[in-house]
Amino acid sequence: MCLFTHIRCPLHRYTFSVRPIREWVENVCESKVLNLFAGPTKLAVDELRNDLNPEMPAEHHLDALELLRSYSGDQFDTILLDPPYAFRKSMELYQGMVCSPFRQLKDELVRHLKPGGLVITFGYHSVVMGRTRGFRLEQLAVFSHGGAIHDTLASVERFARP
Ligand SMILES: C[S@@+](CC[C@H](N)C(=O)[O-])C[C@H]1O[C@@H](n2cnc3c(N)ncnc32)[C@H](O)[C@@H]1O
Repeated sequence: MCLFTHIRCPLHRYTFSVRPIREWVENVCESKVLNLFAGPTKLAVDELRNDLNPEMPAEHHLDALELLRSYSGDQFDTILLDPPYAFRKSMELYQGMVCSPFRQLKDELVRHLKPGGLVITFGYHSVVMGRTRGFRLEQLAVFSHGGAIHDTLASVERFARP
């Protein structure tokens, strides 16, 4: 069973500056959170923040994949992925900062997640980590921005297989 949520709200390049989205994600996050593409909005959760842009409030300013490869701290209960959704968006909205190769990033993040932990991903896909990596889709949220603007999806996948 997958819980489905539908929320109407504006679109902003910094996703969590939109209050209904921020509130939804704060509510879904569990315990210790790794926020890999953190942006400007601090969340009301226990988060370790990373953003490649040095102007963003974060503990780390590394490429997300580089952070995952070099990080040796404790595992997280939740990993939050809100990358630029497309190459064109990186160029137009995020000063040319492009997302790390996403398949490598997904493979690498598993060792930083506790068994039973969550991966929450924003973008255009409903399944991100997938069953082959041991995840099951638990929640899907659709953020509808109205008019001709495409919706944003957020998937919540639980790491069911340690
Ligand atoms: C869609 S925005 C989301 C930011 C944040 N989640 C929010 O809601 O404001 C994507 C963010 O990823 C950052 N970014 C782009 N490429 C990155 C990379 N390779 N590694 C880490 N951060 C990156 C950008 O600077 C930008 O802040």
